[in-house]
Amino acid sequence: MDLQNKVAIITGASSGIGAAIAADLDQAGMKLVLTARSQQKLADLAAQLGNAVVVPGEITDPDLPQQLLDTAINKFGQLDVVINNAGIMHMMAIEDADVDALCTMIRVNFEAIVRMSYTVLPHFKQQGSGFIVNMSSVSGLKTGVMTGVYDGTKHAVEAFTDSIRMELAGSGVSVATIEPGAVATDLYKSWRERGQKGYDELVPNPLQSKDVARCVRFILEQPAGVMVPRLFVVPATSPV
Ligand SMILES: NC(=O)c1ccc[n+]([C@@H]2O[C@H](COP(=O)([O-])OP(=O)(O)OC[C@H]3O[C@@H](n4cnc5c(N)ncnc54)[C@H](OP(=O)(O)O)[C@@H]3O)[C@@H](O)[C@H]2O)c1
Repeated sequence: MDLQNKVAIITGASSGIGAAIAADLDQAGMKLVLTARSQQKLADLAAQLGNAVVVPGEITDPDLPQQLLDTAINKFGQLDVVINNAGIMHMMAIEDADVDALCTMIRVNFEAIVRMSYTVLPHFKQQGSGFIVNMSSVSGLKTGVMTGVYDGTKHAVEAFTDSIRMELAGSGVSVATIEPGAVATDLYKSWRERGQKGYDELVPNPLQSKDVARCVRFILEQPAGVMVPRLFVVPATSPV
């Protein structure tokens, strides 16, 4: 896809990987609809970009996907790409489990992607084009100790995406996942602070958010007839 003047929605755009994807797609000449809860962070980011609007919101709000689609159409006249990136990570031993926090994570990491997809896919099918990239993780491919529910949300993202990829084959609409290993963001920092002592020794050089953004752009910029449905990217030193 030639990204120039195309329109993308990016969720979780207020920090980390989402903000880096916004900067990269802006460089490619795209017009952007940015969402997350932190209104000020979104406004600060949009002010640095060429053509971006912000729609602050809670990603689990069932009305948000339609609001984002309407904003893309009303402001820019079209929608071409959705980057489902918003996510959180709770890791806890089963005896310490805060089941409500875990279920909220399921809604943020998985239910929100399902809702967004079911809102934009009819629009994409009707126009005969469109691309959804879902942020998975190395946790979508394997599991670890105390991360069962997080891993489960990312495995669910993998299953859902691969299923609709096959369902949509030949429609002109594409879906893909990306599976990053450790990336130096707020999520990664809080994970280490909450118990992954020793992770610095295991992965001394995590990816940077812009490394993941470059991979997202690689997926989107493949020529017609070429599809990268899954892109697994880890730090060169990662033993995981
Ligand atoms: N960092 C890693 O090592 C790593 C590795 C693999 C995959 N990932 C995935 O990458 C994605 C981005 O994470 P990150 O590492 O960039 O972390 P981050 O810097 O904490 O970014 C998370 C983003 O999600 C948004 N978000 C969280 N909860 C939300 C909610 N309830 N409603 C709306 N927006 C919400 C946050 O914005 P607000 O707080 O402003 O709402 C923020 O923009 C996640 O899906 C994560 O699972 C991360």
